[in-house]
Amino acid sequence: MDQIIQTVCVCGAGTMGSGIAQIAAQSGFYTILYDVNDEMVGKAEQGMQATLQQLTEKHKITTQDKADTLSRLRFTHDMNDCLADVVIEAIVEKPGIKTALFNQLAEVNHSEVIFATNTSSLSVTDIARQVMRPERVAGMHFFNPAPVMKLVEVVTTPYSNNHTIATIVELARQLGKTPVLCKDAPGFIVNHVARPYYLEALKLAEQGIGDFETIDLLLEATGFKMGPFRLMDLIGNDVNYAVSCSVYEQLGSPERLRPSPLQKERVDKQELGRKTKKGYYNYNS
Ligand SMILES: NC(=O)c1ccc[n+]([C@@H]2O[C@H](COP(=O)([O-])OP(=O)(O)OC[C@H]3O[C@@H](n4cnc5c(N)ncnc54)[C@H](O)[C@@H]3O)[C@@H](O)[C@H]2O)c1
Repeated sequence: MDQIIQTVCVCGAGTMGSGIAQIAAQSGFYTILYDVNDEMVGKAEQGMQATLQQLTEKHKITTQDKADTLSRLRFTHDMNDCLADVVIEAIVEKPGIKTALFNQLAEVNHSEVIFATNTSSLSVTDIARQVMRPERVAGMHFFNPAPVMKLVEVVTTPYSNNHTIATIVELARQLGKTPVLCKDAPGFIVNHVARPYYLEALKLAEQGIGDFETIDLLLEATGFKMGPFRLMDLIGNDVNYAVSCSVYEQLGSPERLRPSPLQKERVDKQELGRKTKKGYYNYNS
């Protein structure tokens, strides 16, 4: 790798962006966490303080580590602050908004900047095609919770050059992750294989064969770490529904992958899971 990464800009201060920014700053990178929504920026800053404090109290990091991590973090809603060697976007799962963001950031950044998208399901090739310097775009798909989950799918497109891929692989390693290369495809590998896990469980609930909790308990008892409803609430029901729709459409609308009305209902009611304190379950804390 011929480019030394010093600064990482994470865009989107929600579930994923906050976690990615945390590990970037803990791993020694100067980290900018940007969100278009000022309220989300404030929440992310408070959340980060609380998380690092908890890690200190559990003796996972020292008080000095906490202070050093915070000193490397900058929280902003001003795009002019987003000057970095690598940009990782974790914003809303809508292709036009992601490409617009990359193009705006290309205007304020140097020409060597690398753009990584944390999209769960959108075509990275389509995103790259619409961005200035498509050879500098690739997927960097983290899993939730980003500070805990080791896997990162590094998604290559026909445009991405070796330097871009090598930089993202190296960055993932420096974040303590296990990067796995995969070609751009609907849902990549993990979200392609995982789709039926959610959709079959949703069908059982729709048909009244089992309620959310029963289905979760049974699947957890067979060895799955989280039942499908608990997992969808963790992911965010808006994100999970967007991924279901995107994979379904990209694969030619096969009946077996049709998104469930239960997913749409949660989104329409803004019952998005843990982040709104209500989803398939209620969350009071
Ligand atoms: N939630 C998961 O489990 C998960 C896992 C892997 C990947 N992803 C992907 O990560 C991305 C983000 O998901 P999330 O769950 O963190 O979403 P989220 O809803 O928790 O957060 C999204 C954030 O993006 C911000 N945002 C929206 N438009 C923006 C813009 N133009 N510029 C800057 N900020 C903007 C919103 O204000 C919000 O704070 C999506 O592409 C999703 O598919 C999610």
